[in-house]
Amino acid sequence: MASAIIKASQDVIRGKGMEPHMAEQQYFPGLEGIIAGETSISTIEGGLQYRGYRIEELARDASFTEVAYLLLHGQLPSQEQFADFKAILIESSEVPEPILEFVREIPLHAPPMDVLRTGVSALAHFDPQCDDDSTDSNIARAMRLIAQIPVLIAARYRYIHAEPYVEPSSTLRFPANILSMIRGTEIDALDEEAMDVSLILYAEHEFNASTFAARVVTSTQSDFYSAICAAIGALKGPLHGGANEHVMEVLEEVGSPENAESWVRTALAKKQRIMGFGHRVYRDGDPRAEILKTYCRQLADKAGNEELEQIADTIEKVVLDEKGLRPNLDWPSARLYHYLGLDVELYTPLFVASRVTGWAAHIIEQAENNRLIRPRSRYIGPVTLPFTPLSDRG
Ligand code: CMC
Repeated sequence: MASAIIKASQDVIRGKGMEPHMAEQQYFPGLEGIIAGETSISTIEGGLQYRGYRIEELARDASFTEVAYLLLHGQLPSQEQFADFKAILIESSEVPEPILEFVREIPLHAPPMDVLRTGVSALAHFDPQCDDDSTDSNIARAMRLIAQIPVLIAARYRYIHAEPYVEPSSTLRFPANILSMIRGTEIDALDEEAMDVSLILYAEHEFNASTFAARVVTSTQSDFYSAICAAIGALKGPLHGGANEHVMEVLEEVGSPENAESWVRTALAKKQRIMGFGHRVYRDGDPRAEILKTYCRQLADKAGNEELEQIADTIEKVVLDEKGLRPNLDWPSARLYHYLGLDVELYTPLFVASRVTGWAAHIIEQAENNRLIRPRSRYIGPVTLPFTPLSDRG
């Protein structure tokens, strides 16, 4: 039954067996509920799974680096494959000096997501085979980006905060390395684990807006970097990845547990969207949010600061009561990054540091089995207007 519906919807999209005007009548704002392609990278049916592995198990037992391998190669690595993969990531982490210089010289007011997009775009010029879209080349450049994006984020951040550059480490694990390049401090085990889990949870989420943007660009046979830059642009928006930064602004504005209930009721009465709540494809709650919340509690406990958790609990309860909406991943992520001592401007770039793995897997999948993504629109403008030559228009 489901496959018949999918087939019918594909036929409608291709206008097969129908008059053009019939195809035009099928319209789903925001493509809601539309199957826009096939993937074997992840599914949300029956719980979120990457390549067939449940997210709960990956978050508990795997590392982000292992998940990156899984997403790129389609299977879990053997110990030897994993050792090679980690070694290549370490070797690839050196960002060409001219790019580091360039990224530092961008005007200080530029938003970090824009700087990151520019940095990734500039990296394309250092890839002599930029237009080679073979799977091996795409995996190699994906690994370079996985290794270099954290360096770009941290180098720019420390430069604008007048802190000395911290080189990537060849001994730290991936999540500790990111934190140490940004903070310039040693990283304890709980901070490292919390960061690792957040990177795992952010890594992949089937046809979300940024991934879809990357697939659209790839479908035109454009290059890998152009697709990633499009994805970064899409992720920046507050309805997508940009939400995690806005969540923190809300929590800061609320300020105290006593203020939380009245703040959220007033905001909802004014029809304000509460960032970090609701989801296009999870109507009963985002399973990733529950996993990350447990780390928020542990980190709040370690810091001896429960206030933010109390504010969050109150807002969650009121939004559920009033709107029936549950938190998405960006809701606990904001608190988690705050407890990890990270500034708000880093939150969405850190989402990129993780999601680049999923984007890369989708670019590879799209390129391997490509069909140009080119939907139709329903025209709602005027037709057959009488044309008046410019000379007669006064
Ligand atoms: N706060 C208040 N009301 C909301 C919210 C929210 N966060 N989300 C949805 N609604 C309401 C919306 O106003 C509408 O109400 P009504 O029917 O009375 O007009 C109803 O719920 C349906 O909203 P919608 O915009 O049609 O639903 P959607 O499926 O397009 O929305 C969403 C999905 C994520 C854009 C939306 O829930 C939202 O804007 N959330 C806040 C931004 C956010 O947290 N984004 C992160 C998304 S998940 C992780 C990621 O991709 O980064």
